[in-house]
Amino acid sequence: MKILQFGRTGQVATALRAAAQGRSEIIALSRADCDLADPERLRATILAADCDLVVNAAAFTQVDPAEAAPEAAFAVNARAPAAMAAACAERGLPFAHLSTDAVFDGRTDRAYVETDRAEPINVYGRSKLAGEQAVLAHPRTVVLRISWVFSRYGRNYVSFMLKLARERETLKVVADQFGTPTDGEALADFLVATAPRWAAAPADDPAFGLFHFANAGETSRFDFAKAAIDRDPMTKARLEPTTQAAFAEPAPRPPRSPLDTAKLRAVFGFSPEAWRPAVERTADRLVSTGLAG
Ligand SMILES: NC(=O)c1ccc[n+]([C@@H]2O[C@H](COP(=O)([O-])OP(=O)(O)OC[C@H]3O[C@@H](n4cnc5c(N)ncnc54)[C@H](OP(=O)(O)O)[C@@H]3O)[C@@H](O)[C@H]2O)c1
Repeated sequence: MKILQFGRTGQVATALRAAAQGRSEIIALSRADCDLADPERLRATILAADCDLVVNAAAFTQVDPAEAAPEAAFAVNARAPAAMAAACAERGLPFAHLSTDAVFDGRTDRAYVETDRAEPINVYGRSKLAGEQAVLAHPRTVVLRISWVFSRYGRNYVSFMLKLARERETLKVVADQFGTPTDGEALADFLVATAPRWAAAPADDPAFGLFHFANAGETSRFDFAKAAIDRDPMTKARLEPTTQAAFAEPAPRPPRSPLDTAKLRAVFGFSPEAWRPAVERTADRLVSTGLAG
């Protein structure tokens, strides 16, 4: 299996490269190799590629800076994936793309399913929703919506909180935002394991389309951080609950955006692990390799 991957150094991109070792060949392109702001370059790269699947693990992921840079966010999160999907269609290749719980407004009393109405409340969410809609024009596209991704790689909520908790006496963490953490390493493993199915599947296969992918269960940002920090003997911070309003970030966040993964289970037979043991395992690995420091 040969995979052409956009994104090389990001969290999920790195997890994918690690998951592919000994199983698939991944050609992972950095920003210097192929800038997503250049759709013609993307098309040429895909048309020239010798691969079985194209994966987009790159995005404009900075939620607050996106508020002030909508043009750049839409170029990278909407127009670039649209160009990738169109080139994949031209070339007869399947395409795997990642999206986000931030397509929802977060006003829900249950976990979101794929058919729920997406109404983003910030620029990042709007740009990612435009990307989803554009890429799904290619029938051999799979879009996985993920949320609150953590792993041993890159800078993510778990590694960031572990680090802060070693540096500070008190750590204020938002307690009124709820969602489902996603184990980035389980996601990468799923993508690599499912690549042969997508490579062989015809356009009408149920393996294509929109899916939610996240760990099982729902938690708050506060309990998510606490589950990780409680694993680190070198933590010195005392956690204090706070509110989203107190943080006053430029981009509003959906207050509650858990993802329902029943469709993922039905189509792929994949049952996500509960979020807490996955977070604890990742925290243990970060702590034991000194990366939490
Ligand atoms: N992290 C989360 O909690 C989360 C939640 C929901 C959905 N997602 C989605 O998951 C996917 C992967 O996210 P992640 O956590 O791995 O993000 P990340 O760690 O921020 O990585 C983003 C990657 O995109 C690359 N990139 C950004 N702009 C680019 C450009 N103009 N040209 C080429 N490459 C560019 C970055 O390259 P550089 O290193 O050169 O900047 C980096 O490799 C994204 O689609 C994101 O929207 C993430």
